[in-house]
Amino acid sequence: MVDARDLRDEGERLSLDELRALQRERLRASLRHAYAHVPFYRAAFDKAGVHPDDCRELADLARFPFTTKADLRENYPYGMFAVPRERVRRIHASSGTTGRPTVVGYTENDLSLWADMVARSIRAAGGRPGDTVHVAYGYGLFTGGLGAHYGAERLGCTVVPASGGMTSRQVQLIQDLKPGIIMVTPSYMLTLLDEFERQGVDPRGTSLRVGIFGAEPWTEAMRREIEERFAIDAVDIYGLSEVIGPGVAQECVETKDGLHIWEDHFYPEIVDPLTGEVLPEGEEGELVFTSLTKEAMPVIRYRTRDLTRLLPGTARVFRRMRKVTGRSDDMVILRGVNLFPTQIEEIVLRTPGVAPHFQLRLTREGRLDALTVRAEARPDATPEDRDTAARAIAAAVKDGVGVSVAVEVVDPESLERSVGKIRRIVDLRPRR
Ligand code: DLL
Repeated sequence: MVDARDLRDEGERLSLDELRALQRERLRASLRHAYAHVPFYRAAFDKAGVHPDDCRELADLARFPFTTKADLRENYPYGMFAVPRERVRRIHASSGTTGRPTVVGYTENDLSLWADMVARSIRAAGGRPGDTVHVAYGYGLFTGGLGAHYGAERLGCTVVPASGGMTSRQVQLIQDLKPGIIMVTPSYMLTLLDEFERQGVDPRGTSLRVGIFGAEPWTEAMRREIEERFAIDAVDIYGLSEVIGPGVAQECVETKDGLHIWEDHFYPEIVDPLTGEVLPEGEEGELVFTSLTKEAMPVIRYRTRDLTRLLPGTARVFRRMRKVTGRSDDMVILRGVNLFPTQIEEIVLRTPGVAPHFQLRLTREGRLDALTVRAEARPDATPEDRDTAARAIAAAVKDGVGVSVAVEVVDPESLERSVGKIRRIVDLRPRR
């Protein structure tokens, strides 16, 4: 068998010293590019009293101001672009839950870089030229579908651009076209699992060997569930439209120990979400990215709101990020206790009698917020099994998270299924 390390591209073969030198050089160029061509950055740097020439070492980046989603919204649609519109080859946008979408743009070179990074990601996941890749991320303004698509083509794979939805057809395509790899959100993979079972097809018997899952948080418990039910390797891919799309970081199949950040192009920092102070390696905080080589829309210290920690590289020279615990936006504060949907996922998935489908309902009782975990019973669960499961989940949340929640074990197939990114929290609290 070919050792994956022999297939590494030029960037992946750098030594740590070479990588840091390259980053220093690229960082200065990226800061200069943003300052020279984006009025927003010029104004922000001037206001903070910093100039691109002040960045001599990587640590000097901490002196530069952050960029937030609100900044991108205020400069909607093209205000953050650093090249004339005619040089922009493609637009994507993230829907966002409120207000204007965030628009992002790519030059020809940006699209090529993106394809290279996704190709690198698929290779790290175990994909090889000649593989067939079933892409079930949504195609369109969302970066998932087209990002995965061009990356798989760049690697030399055969792409099946299935997009999201039409679930019964997806199962048919997988059986007929025999892909080795699937790229899809983990929650939609579970929807596919139901459909395999509904059609009486053994999900462990397909041609699939690797699933590349991302676009939403998922846990080690979910990895075990998917690997076991489909008999595949499940690895994590991370990215966000503002930085480029999928392919910012990827877990290597040989180690499955967190995601290597392709930091020859996307420079990561972890900051304290409240003070903005840069935290030392290993500490949990908010992930911040600076693009090092992007042309159309450079981002300087972009606050992702994703919470994770940075760790040294293992299978690659690049630093790793731990699986994302959640977004600060998805954190529920319940009677003073912080709770993430991923914590509930871990608990639901290890509870007998319930399926891996759950939803969190937030309500207000008097002046206090209350949370109800709704988990779906497995088809063969008896009423007693359901009671036992509900009590077990409530006890585990009380024990592990430190807060009391109500638990309802609902009928099989009664919770809404995902076709893309799943919405875990249903907020029924009255608006103030
Ligand atoms: O979700 C890009 C993507 C597509 C990544 C397909 C991976 C696979 P956005 O729609 O801009 O872009 O959403 C970005 O999704 O800030 C995270 O909160 C979340 N996210 C993405 N990947 C992961 C992951 C795409 N592997 C936002 N784990 C990010 C946890 C993820 N959260």
